[in-house]
Amino acid sequence: MIKIGIIGGTGVYDPSILKNVHQVETMTPYGKVNYKVGDFAGKSIAFIPRHGSKHSIAPHLINYRANIWAMKKIGVNNILATAAVGSLHLPMNLGDFILVDQFIDFTKNRVMTFHEGGEKGVVHVDLTNPYCPTLRDKLLVAAQNIGIAVHSQGTYVCTEGPRFETPAEIAMFSKLGAHLVGMTNVPEVVLAREAEMCYSTIAMVTNYAAGISSTPLTYGEVIKIIKQNTENLKTLLMNTIKLIDIEADCSCQHALDEYGGFKI
Ligand code: HPA
Repeated sequence: MIKIGIIGGTGVYDPSILKNVHQVETMTPYGKVNYKVGDFAGKSIAFIPRHGSKHSIAPHLINYRANIWAMKKIGVNNILATAAVGSLHLPMNLGDFILVDQFIDFTKNRVMTFHEGGEKGVVHVDLTNPYCPTLRDKLLVAAQNIGIAVHSQGTYVCTEGPRFETPAEIAMFSKLGAHLVGMTNVPEVVLAREAEMCYSTIAMVTNYAAGISSTPLTYGEVIKIIKQNTENLKTLLMNTIKLIDIEADCSCQHALDEYGGFKI
């Protein structure tokens, strides 16, 4: 059974850490999902590049529900997600990794839930700890084991995109307590919790956010920083996968106990 999933963000399109990789297509109530499956450290891993393998899917058009449903359907219970982010917080420097622990949602036009009322009922999922603390801890231990510096927490504000933010927006987000800005963690993290899966994001700072950076933002600088840090990201993922106990239970996997569990 495939218990671990990787959702690759910008710049992470190829599951090169996996062996015996094959392509699979699966149907979900939200449409088809193509993903890759391969092995690493004796574990089967599913890989979905969030933006498609050629970076053709914009943040606001990603089929978040289909991706999470597909992972749930094949048995994944732990998702490691990567995300390129802008930094609002000077100590979170270019190339740094942050194990995100909170988010603020400023998206505008996305479906946020698998539960839309009707016969299936209304569900209000708890997000006191939106990112799985156990999985975050595995990432932290892995990073310490291999000597990669990470920030153990950070608040991610999710914007609708695909445009970058204005300096006025960034100043506001900063006042609200955000450290990082990106366009994809919401609703992905929310859906993973609704689907009763452990989910953690490794954010990589690719730029200082608008107005904090003295120059206009370019996608080119984002890609350049990602390329420089991809090896470390891979090493961190590999060492974290080794630490994940795929049989371990976790409160994330009981998030909807009150509602009789998530039904696929
Ligand atoms: N803003 C939003 N998303 C991003 C950024 C940013 O500055 N950098 C990388 N993803």
